Amino acid sequence: MSISIIPEEKDEVLRDVHIGIIGCGGIANGKHLPSLSKLPNVKITAFCDLIPERAEKAKKEFGTDDAVVYTDYQLLLKQEDLEVIHVLTPNVSHCELAVAALESGHHVMCEKPMATTYVEAQRMVEASKKAGKFLTVGYQTRSQTSHQYVRKMIERGDLGEIYYIKAPSIRKRGVPLWGVFLDKEQQGGGPMIDIGTHSIDAALSLIQNYDVASVTGSVYRKLADTAYLSNEWGIWDPEKLDFSVEDSAMSYVRFKNGATLVIEAAWLLNYAGDSHMTLCGTKGGVEFLDGGVVRFCGDEDGSFYTKDVKPNNTARTLFKGQNLTGEEYEAKQWIYSVIHNIPPVTKPEEAAVVTQIIEATYRSAQEGKTIYF
Ligand SMILES: NC(=O)c1ccc[n+]([C@@H]2O[C@H](COP(=O)([O-])OP(=O)(O)OC[C@H]3O[C@@H](n4cnc5c(N)ncnc54)[C@H](O)[C@@H]3O)[C@@H](O)[C@H]2O)c1
Repeated sequence: MSISIIPEEKDEVLRDVHIGIIGCGGIANGKHLPSLSKLPNVKITAFCDLIPERAEKAKKEFGTDDAVVYTDYQLLLKQEDLEVIHVLTPNVSHCELAVAALESGHHVMCEKPMATTYVEAQRMVEASKKAGKFLTVGYQTRSQTSHQYVRKMIERGDLGEIYYIKAPSIRKRGVPLWGVFLDKEQQGGGPMIDIGTHSIDAALSLIQNYDVASVTGSVYRKLADTAYLSNEWGIWDPEKLDFSVEDSAMSYVRFKNGATLVIEAAWLLNYAGDSHMTLCGTKGGVEFLDGGVVRFCGDEDGSFYTKDVKPNNTARTLFKGQNLTGEEYEAKQWIYSVIHNIPPVTKPEEAAVVTQIIEATYRSAQEGKTIYF
């Protein structure tokens, strides 16, 4: 696997890429539209949302003058100039929309998680293969400088054999109250499928191991009904809010080579610790600290030591990626892969395994047993 597909030495061959957006809510306006608009060769010529004002607003801010607004995605897919579709709707519709977009001859960027079930994820992989079109998933953590820096360390063998990974996504008080995040029917679950998905993808892509042996999960809904709980995004009245997903979940994943991954995902947890991903290998360990700092630890001349590094885009191809955020770099790499016909950095088969682990976590908790793959 490569962390970057943009070569250092070559200048890009620019040609226009026309993009259609399905779902003009939070992630469209917070990530995709601002990042895509920084790429001079991208033209966003179609916007679709069930709420037409959202599509109109996004068109005004980010679209071409002749961009068209839709409320029915099937009509958008018929617009002739479109080469790429971004699927940015709630999780439950990712499969239907992505498959339809692939079958109608488009490359697809789908927001995370890829799907709510592994069966759906496999359908998406198959549709991409059958159509001969690229499908990728919006795991922008992979494009962060610290992630790419550590991936290079691992490739060089600096950590040796990695056998233990702790992958927390812990928000002590961070329930998203906008959109449909609390609705199990729409999202398929709570923090495990919402933010745990990033930690799982980051871990698997760092160690390049997708051979899972088993998953044991615990799922909790312990604090959601507590009145007047503090929350980063506003307080809620448990009587009035339909909070049908978990508020925390943990998962213990064993790989076929014996390595262990522990995932902790929470929107609400009475926990005072940090949420740092940690990888432990035979030669050294790495912890992702806040602010993009990477802490290496190991043993030298009989002493255990730590060393903190703040990588400054050094792991990225130099002038092609410096000063870009993870989200901007993700967009740049994605469009580069479309233009140059190079498979995207985040492969759908990899994202499908992430979905498989999440689904197994929920199933394991529900059935009270370990799920063997
Ligand atoms: N990469 C990240 O870090 C990240 C962060 C937040 C959300 N997300 C993901 O992005 C997706 C959307 O989340 P959001 O926060 O933008 O939600 P949102 O509710 O703010 O926006 C979703 C939009 O999709 C529209 N929509 C729903 N079904 C549609 C359909 N069939 N056709 C057209 N429009 C439709 C809704 O009207 C809404 O405007 C989710 O899958 C979520 O997991 C990813």
